[in-house]
Amino acid sequence: MNRTLGCCYYPEHWPEEVWAEDARRMVEAGLTWVRIGEFAWSRLEPEPGRLDWGWLDRAIDILGAAGLRVVLGTPTATPPRWMLTRHPDMLAVDAEGRPRRFGSRRHYCFSHPGYIEECRRIVTLLADRYGRHPHLAAWQTDNEYGCHDTVLSYSDAAREAFRDWLRARYPGGGNDGDIAALNAAWGNVFWSMEYGDFDEIDLPNLTVTEPNPAHALAFRRFASDRVAAFNRAQVEIIRARSDAPIVHNYMGRETAFDHFALGADLDIASWDSYPLGFLEDRAGASAERQLRYMRQGDPDFQAFHHDLYRAVGRGRWWVMEQQPGPVNWAPYNPAPLPGMVRLWTWEAFAHGAEAVLYFRWRQAPFAQEQMHAGLLRPDSADAPALAEARAVAGELAEAGAVAPVQAPVALIFDYASSWAWEVQPHGAGLSYFGLVLDHYRALRRLGLSVDVLPPDAFLDGYRMVLAPGLILMDEALKDRLAACGAEVLVGPRAACRGPDMGIPLPLPPALPGLDATVTRVESLRPDAPVPLSGGGALTGWREDLAGAAEVVLSDEGGGPVARRSGGLTYMGGWGDAAALARLVRGMAERAGVPVRDLPPGVRVRETGAERFWFNHGPESVDCDIGMLPPAAVVREGL
Ligand code: GAL
Repeated sequence: MNRTLGCCYYPEHWPEEVWAEDARRMVEAGLTWVRIGEFAWSRLEPEPGRLDWGWLDRAIDILGAAGLRVVLGTPTATPPRWMLTRHPDMLAVDAEGRPRRFGSRRHYCFSHPGYIEECRRIVTLLADRYGRHPHLAAWQTDNEYGCHDTVLSYSDAAREAFRDWLRARYPGGGNDGDIAALNAAWGNVFWSMEYGDFDEIDLPNLTVTEPNPAHALAFRRFASDRVAAFNRAQVEIIRARSDAPIVHNYMGRETAFDHFALGADLDIASWDSYPLGFLEDRAGASAERQLRYMRQGDPDFQAFHHDLYRAVGRGRWWVMEQQPGPVNWAPYNPAPLPGMVRLWTWEAFAHGAEAVLYFRWRQAPFAQEQMHAGLLRPDSADAPALAEARAVAGELAEAGAVAPVQAPVALIFDYASSWAWEVQPHGAGLSYFGLVLDHYRALRRLGLSVDVLPPDAFLDGYRMVLAPGLILMDEALKDRLAACGAEVLVGPRAACRGPDMGIPLPLPPALPGLDATVTRVESLRPDAPVPLSGGGALTGWREDLAGAAEVVLSDEGGGPVARRSGGLTYMGGWGDAAALARLVRGMAERAGVPVRDLPPGVRVRETGAERFWFNHGPESVDCDIGMLPPAAVVREGL
C-alpha cells in the first residue's frame, strides 16, 4: 500500500485566476489528493433547477491537469436557503422542540422525505456528470454525519418515521405492528404507559421526567438507522454511475450512529483529526493533562480513532481532514508545537492510513472559519504546516509501501452499548467512550498495538481481547469471547440489559464458564474512589460480585472486584489507570505478549514491517531507542 497526502480545497472561495497556481503549489508540496465540493450546493444550483456546472468543470480540469486526484463531496450537509422555502419543515428539531435555523450548516432532519428526495436529485446530477470523469478518483458522501449534534431530531417527520420503524420492529397484524408486543417488551405497565396504537407513540423528548429507557434506546437505534439509510441512498446512486471508491469523513468521539453499520455500505472510512481541538473539547483530559499536551494533543485520542476507523473501513481508511495549525472552535486554540503536524501525519500512517489530507489549503479571510489555519495564510504565503507536509512527502518517497498486519490485542467497540450507557448512565459523567478510552490508554502505555473491532468480528489470532462496558451482548458474542482462546476481559456492566433495556435473568453477566454474578451495582461520587488491595482504585462504578470463580482483584476490605476462570476475567467496576495497568499487565503475561514500560507521552506502534516511536510529551525523554526530543518520530525497520 502506498501512503499519500492531500488537502481540502474550496475553489468556490477563490478567484478562478488563482486555481492553477494553487494546484501547482499543491503538487510541488508533494500532495496527491484534493477534496472539493462538499459545501458548494448554492453555487452548483443557485436557484431550484438552475444548475451551474461550468466552474466545477473548470476546477476539476485544472486540478486534474496539474496531476492531482479529485475527491468530490456531495453537498448535502449544506442545503441552500431556497431549499427551506421549498421545504420549511425540513429543519432538525432539538430536544427542547426548537427547530434549528438556517445560517450555518447541517440544518436538516435525516427523516424528512422531501429533503431526502432533493439529496437524491443533486447526487444523481453530480454522479451523472462526474462519475466517469478521468480526474475523479473518489467520492465523499455529505460531511461529518452527526457534527453539531444533528443525529437526533425531534421533528414531525422523525416522529412519523419512528412509528413506522417501531411497527417493523414489533411486527404482527399485517403492516400495523403488534402494539401489545411493544408494551410488553418496554414494560409499559409501569406508570400506565401502555399504548393502544403505534400512532400514539411520541418521540422521547419533553416528557415530565425521564422517559422509559426502552423508549429512549429504541429512538437511538432508530436515529442511527436513519443516518445509515440517508447515506445508503447516496451510495446507491453513485455506484450506479461511477467506479470510484466512496468514502465518508467521520468525527472524533461521535457515537450517535453506528459507524460499522454505515461503513458497511462504503469502500473506505475516513475521519477528521483535530488533536488540539479535541484535547480541549472531547478527550476528557484533566486540566493538568490539557496543559501538558496543549500543543501536542492527547497521546491516545487520535490513535484510538485511527484504530477504530481502520475497523469501520474494513482495513481501508484515511484521515480526510488533518489539523494544520490553530483551529477556531475549541475553548482555547493554541498553535501546535513545531513538528507536531508531521508527527500526526506519520502517526496516521503508522496505524495504517492510506492517505492524510490537510484541512484546509488556504485560510479563509471570511465567514465562520476565518480563525482556522490552513497550509497557506490568507495572503497565500506558506503557513508553518506547509513545510511539515512537504517534509513528510519527502520522507514518504523514501519509505516505500507497507502491508498492514493484525495486532496482538483486540478492543471491542459497540455503538449500541454506548447508547445504553447514555440512556442509563446511573452516575454523572460516566460514559462508555470514556471507559473504552481508559482501557485503550492502559494498553498503549505498555507499548501494545491494538485493533479495535466491532462486536460481531472474528476473534481468531488475537492473544488478548478486551470488551469493557458492553451493556448489550448477545449470546453469540458471549460464546465467542468464552471460546476464542485469548485472555479476555469483560465488564463492568457486561450483558446487564436485554435488547429493550430490561434486566436479564439469570442475573448478568451469565458468561459461559464463569461462575460470577453481579448481585448489586452502585455508582460512586468522583471524590469517593474505592481503593484496591495491592494498588489502584475503582472510580465511578462498582459491582458486588458473587460466585465461585477465583478473585483476582479485591478492595481493601477483601470484597471481590474482579473474578477469573481460565482466560476469562470479569471486572466489576471502573478501574483507574493503576488498576487497569495491573489487569492488562497480568493478561499480557498470561498471554505471553511482551510489554514495555514507556515514559509518559511516548507511544509505539508496529505495522508489521516497521516500528514507530512517537514523543507526544513537551520534554525530551530517554527510552529504549535513545533520546527522543518533543514531537520526535522514529521509524525502525523490523
Ligand atoms: C470539520 C469540518 C470542516 C471544518 C473543520 C474545522 O469538523 O468537517 O468542514 O469545519 O471541522 O476544523
